[in-house]
Amino acid sequence: MKKVLVVVDMQNDFIDGALGTKEAQAIVGNVIEKIKSYPPEAVYATMDTHFADYLSTQEGRRLPVEHCISGSDGWLIRKEVYELLDHGTICIKNAFGSLALPEALKKNEDLEEVELVGLCTDICVVSNALIIKAALPEVKVSVDASCCAGVTPAKHLAALETMRSCQVEITGEEPLKLSVICDSVSGNTKQAGEWIAEGMRRAGAEAKCFKIGEIDADFVKQSCGVVLGSPVYSALMTADMRSWLQTGARELGLAGKLGGAFATAQYTHGGTELVIQSLLETELVYGMLVYSAGNSEGHPVIHIGPVGINGNRESFNGMENYKEYFGLYGERFARKAYGLFR
Ligand SMILES: Cc1cc2nc3c(=O)[nH]c(=O)nc-3n(C[C@H](O)[C@H](O)[C@H](O)COP(=O)(O)O)c2cc1C
Repeated sequence: MKKVLVVVDMQNDFIDGALGTKEAQAIVGNVIEKIKSYPPEAVYATMDTHFADYLSTQEGRRLPVEHCISGSDGWLIRKEVYELLDHGTICIKNAFGSLALPEALKKNEDLEEVELVGLCTDICVVSNALIIKAALPEVKVSVDASCCAGVTPAKHLAALETMRSCQVEITGEEPLKLSVICDSVSGNTKQAGEWIAEGMRRAGAEAKCFKIGEIDADFVKQSCGVVLGSPVYSALMTADMRSWLQTGARELGLAGKLGGAFATAQYTHGGTELVIQSLLETELVYGMLVYSAGNSEGHPVIHIGPVGINGNRESFNGMENYKEYFGLYGERFARKAYGLFR
């Protein structure tokens, strides 16, 4: 066979058992469709397998959650997946990677490509992809990202990046998700946030702008970058924004995400930079990677974040004058996110 599929650890414990995740449950349908696209004899599978001594093993001491204990329900491959497999090609393994798997694959003398799918991207998928790459250096190795899930969405992305560095071809990747979250009473800041999101989309990301109180928490959690915005009230962010940062924001898993900030105000000298600085400081407290292009992107220089001024009696009055800056900031932010996370 020229092309084969390896289905890694699609076992109940990794889907909705001891180590299950929402993301793992979400890929089951994709994995089933993928298996159906191959002849049954071209599909290999692995099964993580532990025993009663698991907690005293090296792995168990570092991950003290009993899982895939031989013979348990959690150890079984998800029924709908198992029914599609040729049972002679299942490799049992008690480590992340299987050394038996490349040996089985080598029996295909005309093998040109191995595609991997399954769980978890950042542990067993990456381990097996790299073992196959080492054992069969002239065989193309690919991973379909839409059929894999990581321990966390961020670790999934990081593992894809590592595999790409090792010349594993990554397919089926969704665009990066980016979120803009702001307070807005009379609509200026929301408008600015929408312009930022438009700029992010121009750079290839899937981007959404939310007002606090109307947030799609799942989308934000899956986002690798979040830009926060607030109107300026008495040279501060609004009380509602501050309050949300100390409550709702804590539930969104912001650590490790790229963070940016913007503000709108009535006056050029009304306090926008104080608000941006304060938002960026809060992002640091949450462990975010704080973004500023500074002056590195040339003109227009947006420094620490874009501002929109709506009530000046001077020039540059009116939010529309700032549309281009917000959009450009969104594009720059998204390009930086792609550089870091892809
Ligand atoms: C209570 C209050 C305080 C404000 N304080 C300031 C201020 O200190 N400096 C400033 O330039 N604009 C100030 N503004 C104007 C708003 O920041 C500005 O109109 C902003 O764009 C409103 O955003 P929104 O339309 O998203 O609610 C204030 C507005 C209100 C209602």
